[in-house]
Amino acid sequence: MAQNYHIVTYGCQMNLHESEKIAGILKKIGYENETTLEEADIVVFNTCCIRENAENHAFGNIGALKQLKRKKPDMIIAVGGCMTQEKGKTDVLKKKFPFIDVMFGALNIEELESLILRKRQQKKKIISIREEAGEIIENIQPVRTSYPNAWVNITYGCNNFCSYCIVPYVRGRERSRKPENIINEVKSLIAEGYKEITLLGQNVNSYGADGSTGMDFAQLLDAVASIEGKFRLRFMTSHPKDFTEDVVAVMEKHRKICRLVHLPVQSGSNSILQAMNRRYTREKYLSEIELLKTRLPEAEVTTDIIVGFPGETEEDYLQTEDLVKRVDFASAFTFVYSPRQGTKAAAMDNQIDEATQKQRIMRLVELVNLLTRQKSEKYVGKTVEILCEDFDEKKGMYMGRDEFGRMGYFHSEKDCIGNFVLLRIIKANGISLYGEMV
Ligand code: 5AD
Ligand code: SF4
Repeated sequence: MAQNYHIVTYGCQMNLHESEKIAGILKKIGYENETTLEEADIVVFNTCCIRENAENHAFGNIGALKQLKRKKPDMIIAVGGCMTQEKGKTDVLKKKFPFIDVMFGALNIEELESLILRKRQQKKKIISIREEAGEIIENIQPVRTSYPNAWVNITYGCNNFCSYCIVPYVRGRERSRKPENIINEVKSLIAEGYKEITLLGQNVNSYGADGSTGMDFAQLLDAVASIEGKFRLRFMTSHPKDFTEDVVAVMEKHRKICRLVHLPVQSGSNSILQAMNRRYTREKYLSEIELLKTRLPEAEVTTDIIVGFPGETEEDYLQTEDLVKRVDFASAFTFVYSPRQGTKAAAMDNQIDEATQKQRIMRLVELVNLLTRQKSEKYVGKTVEILCEDFDEKKGMYMGRDEFGRMGYFHSEKDCIGNFVLLRIIKANGISLYGEMV
């Protein structure tokens, strides 16, 4: 009999796509319907550990399952992802939440099938974490949840060891997928009707850097963009230390590559960038923006910024504000620095007090919001192409993004999901745009 599943995902796009693969594994062993938590026969938590609040969030949600598990003892509770991969975390989880049935890591999701099958046979809990990443697994069929967009991994792991970041410790060394596997996956997604492909990697620009693929990122991007059909192509995340002219040249060559680059700057201060081990300067970053905008004047950039990194002075912070104003980002994800156990920055003795961190993040968010609002207003009166993604029940309107990731809302008599639609923008509200179909 078909059984029900429920997956709770924390963190980034990468993790959302991992959850699609987890759903694929569950489907293979009889969990066919995605349902609410209460109706589920298996609940999987796909955790994130990039900042402390992501961990706390997962802790809270797992803890809240205690009652339900008491009522439904046969329901399987599995916890996996980045958090279980951290040193010593499975012991903490075991103690705090003895009702967890299965724990797996970020490096062995393909094992989930056999772990669950084993759990069905025995009472004892099952914990299996792999220390080092193995071969890339190619045969998991994801259950995709983001039509008309589809995520496609190009690399896994990260070799950069930015001093604040836990990713290299939990996701292992960088591995690149073979170009033919990526290209075949994209070809079949386009044949299935997907209209937007997002290539995913912690640092897409270092694709193939170990020499294992016979192609670098620019060549791969060129090959994927050469696949026939009308679709949008996105890629993330780019690293400023590796972002090169040849990628811009490929963007120029193919109009289906969105003119949007997610290029996390993290800080506008050279001394902080150095302490973060980012291996570029603010001058290099600004010169990359200039290169991009000279060659592709319509191009936009989004970014990630951390405030309150150890040793950050008011002057350093103001350098970040200055850089944000100069670049005029399309949008920016802003974070308060969160010490992660085992990273270099967590051991630095010049941590910033919480009050200063809070005050800086509030000022930065205000600045970023102001710039985003100003950008939105410039849209009014223009006509933009939207890829319709969904219907917003609350607003009673269809919604979709333009190539720069801006959400546009509109009314339509017929179902538009998956269609490219031309919208004349009549109103802007914060980051949202409202328009009429033309
Ligand atoms: N504290 C705060 N933000 C972090 N990020 C990564 N590690 C940390 C940390 N320890 C942010 C970076 C990165 C984004 C995905 O998360 O800005 O680009
Ligand atoms: Fe973390 Fe830096 Fe790797 Fe991004 S590039 S995942 S911030 S170590």
